[in-house]
Amino acid sequence: MIEDLWYKNAVVYCLDVETFMDGNGDGVGDFVGLRRKLDYLAGLGVTCVWLMPFQPTPNRDNGYDIRDYYGVDPRLGDLGDFVAFTHEAKLHGIRVIIDLVVNHTSDQHPWFQSARKGPDSPFHDYYVWAKKKPKDAHKGMVFPGVQPSTWTYVKEAGGWYFHRFFDFQPDLNVANPEVREQILKVMGYWLELGVSGFRVDAVPFLVELKGLKNHGVEDPYGFLKEMREFLSWRKGDAILLAEANVTMDEVMEFFGDNDRMQLVFNFLANQNFYLSLTRGDATPLIQALKASPDLPHTAQWANFLRNHDELDLGRLSDKDRAEVFQALGPDKGMQLYDRGLRRRFASMLDGDRRRIELAYSLMFTLPGTPVLWYGDELGMGENLALKERQAVRTPMQWSPERHGGFTLAQTPVKPLVEEGAFGFAQVNVAQQRCDPTSQLNWTERIIRARKECPELGWGAWRILRTGNKGVMALRYDWKGNAMVVLHNLSARPCTVKLDPGGDEACPLYNVLTEDHSEPVDGQRHTLTLEGYGYRWFRVGHQNPARKHKVEPRP
Ligand code: NOJ
Repeated sequence: MIEDLWYKNAVVYCLDVETFMDGNGDGVGDFVGLRRKLDYLAGLGVTCVWLMPFQPTPNRDNGYDIRDYYGVDPRLGDLGDFVAFTHEAKLHGIRVIIDLVVNHTSDQHPWFQSARKGPDSPFHDYYVWAKKKPKDAHKGMVFPGVQPSTWTYVKEAGGWYFHRFFDFQPDLNVANPEVREQILKVMGYWLELGVSGFRVDAVPFLVELKGLKNHGVEDPYGFLKEMREFLSWRKGDAILLAEANVTMDEVMEFFGDNDRMQLVFNFLANQNFYLSLTRGDATPLIQALKASPDLPHTAQWANFLRNHDELDLGRLSDKDRAEVFQALGPDKGMQLYDRGLRRRFASMLDGDRRRIELAYSLMFTLPGTPVLWYGDELGMGENLALKERQAVRTPMQWSPERHGGFTLAQTPVKPLVEEGAFGFAQVNVAQQRCDPTSQLNWTERIIRARKECPELGWGAWRILRTGNKGVMALRYDWKGNAMVVLHNLSARPCTVKLDPGGDEACPLYNVLTEDHSEPVDGQRHTLTLEGYGYRWFRVGHQNPARKHKVEPRP
């Protein structure tokens, strides 16, 4: 069995170069600034950085509208800066993965500029066209309320083109073998420049082949296999992390049988976690975990609390979603696209450290690989004055200085959060670094613990009964070592009788503090948890006799 699957125990940190750190004083974050902050990321314990799109772009969807797949947006630096960054990241033991946005291009991409001239263009079939206005042109919009349609007319071309997202993001025709080749070429290029893989944008739409007639593709998911084969051949340990907000019935199409995406974000667990958090009842999250299929050996979930988009609750029932909205984002201005909240995690919880810690402790111990959104390690908040999803994409808050220490320029690329309890004067790296009780230092410690518990990334897991619906207990087994983690989602303190499983009565050693618990009733333990309390236990040993091989560092 292959044991050096680095992503099984990675701690992934997502950031946007544009808003992380300005190195040249022009107001825009850049690769030079990001490079200077590698010590910070290494200190936090991050092992893999996921960069949001940084290629040349008209920037109408935060870079998810790419004009040139082979460059760096001049505002952020150049290719030399990119390579210097990946090189130095490697020296810090940090891998880099990047967004692969190939469901669509920008309408300013030269392929589309040519394609729109009509069927004689060699690039016309790179996109999806219809001669007549499709009947469903006003259906299936990803951004309801701000995106009027999914098909747009081009007079010059004498036809309509399909765009799952905004009209300036025409969908590529992945049934076209030339397009597939182009996509692989893009992957090969960035792999050669030092990346360890890709967060693949909008994968379900990439493979859906919508709007194409007689496309001749037998298995639309086959392309995912092609991508994986190409990737692994070019760089054996590189990964594909899929953004695929799909049901558990569909998800295996994305993982395949050790031959498609290695990682898929667990959107179902994420959405049900919020319902559990709102209700103080672990049941919805437990049900979501129980619904997930057994994964093949090389596959892994990616877990997150928040990301750069709205908190999408579209898979909850209307009633359940309304309940979460009421608790975490009751104002209309906090809600977006009829399905989500445009808030950061800490502000949704009014900065309540007990609940924030409970939630991150849970996220770090769910089956899978944790993915953090920059600034959440500090408890940054949102700026609701900004449009749509921009609210959660404000510059990193480094210090209480002007513009939060993000830039020395007069005007930062985006306004920072200035006012109130989440403004940069209150929430920033410099101050939290000096305070042992800060959220930043807590996050650093929990990341350290997560990395010291490879059972969580690798182990076979199961849900244990606690007899208390507020409490979720998970057991992990790996190479003769076992862990049990408990989280009380409710505000009420409680005492649970827990059988940690296994063949014999064993003590439980707390990984985060010095105490431990002895079995009192056969194998069972009596465990007391505070409201929103959490525990990570090793079963039987304090320090496991590392029966497993030591994980190679990236
Ligand atoms: C998903 C990305 O997360 C989102 O930010 C973007 O708008 C769409 N894909 C389109 O690329």
